[in-house]
Amino acid sequence: MLIAGNWKMFKGPEATREFAAAFDPPAGVDVVVAPPYVSLAAAVEARLTTFAQSVHWAPEGAYTGEISTGMLLELGVAGAIVGHSERRQFFGETDETVSMRAEAALAAGLEVIACVGELESEREAGRTEEVLRRQVGVLPDDERLVIAYEPVWAIGTGRTATPQIAQEAHAFIKSLLDRPVLYGGSVKPDNARELLAQPDVDGALVGGASLDPGSFAAICEAALT
Ligand code: PGA
Repeated sequence: MLIAGNWKMFKGPEATREFAAAFDPPAGVDVVVAPPYVSLAAAVEARLTTFAQSVHWAPEGAYTGEISTGMLLELGVAGAIVGHSERRQFFGETDETVSMRAEAALAAGLEVIACVGELESEREAGRTEEVLRRQVGVLPDDERLVIAYEPVWAIGTGRTATPQIAQEAHAFIKSLLDRPVLYGGSVKPDNARELLAQPDVDGALVGGASLDPGSFAAICEAALT
């Protein structure tokens, strides 16, 4: 089981250190945090397994606002999230750039959590499998790749997919690419156990509930039972 916390644009270095001091996860579950770039060093120094929230495909160059695999490795960062739906929605991320980011990160030796998931309108139109097939289709088959299924309608909305919806989507994703699949979208301490109990749910990518050390630790506990 892998439980990953995506902190999005929350927590500078000081708040990261405070989190680390208060965070006491159970043994036996793999835990990752993905803070903003400026807090990566603080997270690594606090001995948290640390992922970036994205990574560029070029080793260096004129790419304002981006960060390279080498820079992350220099800090001791273990991996990167790619293709989060907020990157796709607000920052023009496409299947092609997600694929380039994933390929470059894996080639550099980083682990990758690649996010996929359908919009509400796509689910209502019966297009979920078509969307997942397209998004998963660009991902490399690599032993350091983990997929996160995050239905966009469940992110930050408090509307979690039912365990059955998650299980169906995870099984479908694994039929396309046989890698571990995390569920993401309004995972909280009180719904984590049921979601994580599904046979094809291999962990969680947690946004809001990963910001508090107590609730994030409670989700990690849920992964053990
Ligand atoms: P949420 O975010 O848990 O706040 O819904 C999940 C994510 O965006 O990874």
